[in-house]
Amino acid sequence: MCGIVGAIAQRNITPILLEGLRRLEYRGYDSAGVAVLTDDEHNNADGILRVRAVGKVIELENALEATPAAGHLGIAHTRWATHGKPAERNAHPHISGSLAVVHNGIIENHGPLRKKLIGLGYEFVSETDTEVVAHLIAHYYAESQDLLGAFRTALSELHGAYALALIHQDEPHQLYCARMGSPLVIGEGSEEHYIASDPLALLQVTDRFRYLEEGDHARLNNNTCEIWDRDNKSVNRELKRYEHAAFSMEKGEYRHYMLKEIYEQPQAIRDTLSGIVADDHVLTAVLGPDAEERLGDIENIHIVACGTSYHAGLVARYWIEGQAGMPCTVEVASEYRYRTVVVPKNTLLITISQSGETADTLAALRFAKDQGYLATLAICNVAGSSLVREADWRLLTHAGPEIGVASTKAFTTQLVALLWLTTALAQVRGKNADVIANNVKALKQLPEIIEQALTLDTRITTLAERFASKDHALFLGRGTHYPIAMEGALKLKEISYIHAEAYAAGELKHGPLALVDENMPVVSVAPGDSLLEKLKSNLEEVRARGGQLITFACETIDQSEESNHEIISLPWVEDCISPILYTIPLQLLSYHVALVKGTDVDKPRNLAKSVTVE
Ligand code: G6P
Repeated sequence: MCGIVGAIAQRNITPILLEGLRRLEYRGYDSAGVAVLTDDEHNNADGILRVRAVGKVIELENALEATPAAGHLGIAHTRWATHGKPAERNAHPHISGSLAVVHNGIIENHGPLRKKLIGLGYEFVSETDTEVVAHLIAHYYAESQDLLGAFRTALSELHGAYALALIHQDEPHQLYCARMGSPLVIGEGSEEHYIASDPLALLQVTDRFRYLEEGDHARLNNNTCEIWDRDNKSVNRELKRYEHAAFSMEKGEYRHYMLKEIYEQPQAIRDTLSGIVADDHVLTAVLGPDAEERLGDIENIHIVACGTSYHAGLVARYWIEGQAGMPCTVEVASEYRYRTVVVPKNTLLITISQSGETADTLAALRFAKDQGYLATLAICNVAGSSLVREADWRLLTHAGPEIGVASTKAFTTQLVALLWLTTALAQVRGKNADVIANNVKALKQLPEIIEQALTLDTRITTLAERFASKDHALFLGRGTHYPIAMEGALKLKEISYIHAEAYAAGELKHGPLALVDENMPVVSVAPGDSLLEKLKSNLEEVRARGGQLITFACETIDQSEESNHEIISLPWVEDCISPILYTIPLQLLSYHVALVKGTDVDKPRNLAKSVTVE
């Protein structure tokens, strides 16, 4: 979490920093700040000018109107508090003498370092772990007058995770940065360089990036970009073009990014499928030239992910075991990484992540490397992310940038990628060709079917008005729709702050039924699959206790509404894509409930889009 931007240019860089922060706000938004090395041309003064504000980036913009800061070199930060509450004194950049730093991550040994620096006479004005870094570099610089050397020595003493940027008054033409465990990219412009936690922040000025690797540090000026690895060996990191330029970063006609992203799902799915499906089979070459052989060797699958991506994995388990006949387990990364894992022979580890930078998922991948897996595969939406770079194989979703904190199009494209993978596994294992052709046909129909589902928007808006007054809600589903119910409950919690829980419908009578009364809405996902009759009897259990039922059901099933039971119908689809379709109305429901409640849909309280700390 937290977002970093930095720039060095011939022109005034403050507008670039501010626009970068606006685009990074999804990473944290409790305070923000900039530090600019001012110059005679812009400010009639030399030195570091820092402006910080509590709250969103707009507050910083207002503060900058009162105290304009302009210059050729600067760093900026938007914060998601870990050490020290949101307050101006804790907002970045942090200054020590003539230098300023911004930091994303957690310095685990900040306690002993702080003690040592206090002993050396440094005064701390914040509760952050970052201030330690500022003083540490200043301390070594005071000893050596060598900023690169001081930066390196300080880095060698830090334990934990960081992306760091540094400017110093004595080196007005150099921007320093480093990464270890938190993402950082270098953007290249015409006689300009930029850095950011996410390329999205810099698409305003460039689409050419170098991705720093773990332990790298760099020094940039207008024309040069020097990068060193963790052993201080000079290295070249390839310049790459950013791939998601097709999707706009602007909200356009939409009121929120989340709504825009919900509506972008048909296109995101088309893009994800592009080039990987033929008429009646899938094209496995996307996994590499020897993909058929590699896929053929797999006998077991372990899936690891967090949040919404974990829910995608849970759906995939039903598909992989059901269609490819392969044992599959799914686990949240924060648990997986700290336990003893038994890995059967020829097991593929799959990590799923929108950002490819989630700390627990990344740590799980690293942990898995020593556990004897056959290979690791990352399913991810960000081509240059750490997860993609560190996995053996990669399968990219092409959802385009997802800005809304609550994940929508990333989830449905993950499901598409996972159904594709299931089909590929079934294909190489010689499973029924009709099942394979059917999956492919259904996947191709999906964008159009989702377009139909999006027309439910108005009906769901009305429903949301009644829903918004509730404090709790239950979500029910069976089979592949149980994880979809979990995702529906998570969406509602995330953006409307209504307490919601999901249960496998068959579990209702083992406890949660006790909660059901006229104040408890029960949302169920009832496609016309083989489990429908079973689900219907579960719903009767709710109705008999006065619970308010809202059912998303297939248009082909009996539609007779009864008192306190609202049925919203969706088009009939093949079972395999049904969980993807039923995700859509649940996304719309949470969105409209949040609108009625007046919460901050794109930036819900306490959350961040990319959780790069543990
Ligand atoms: C955060 C986001 C969630 C997301 C989860 C995993 O909690 O708010 O929307 O599902 O991280 O993120 P990833 O990028 O790994 O999919």
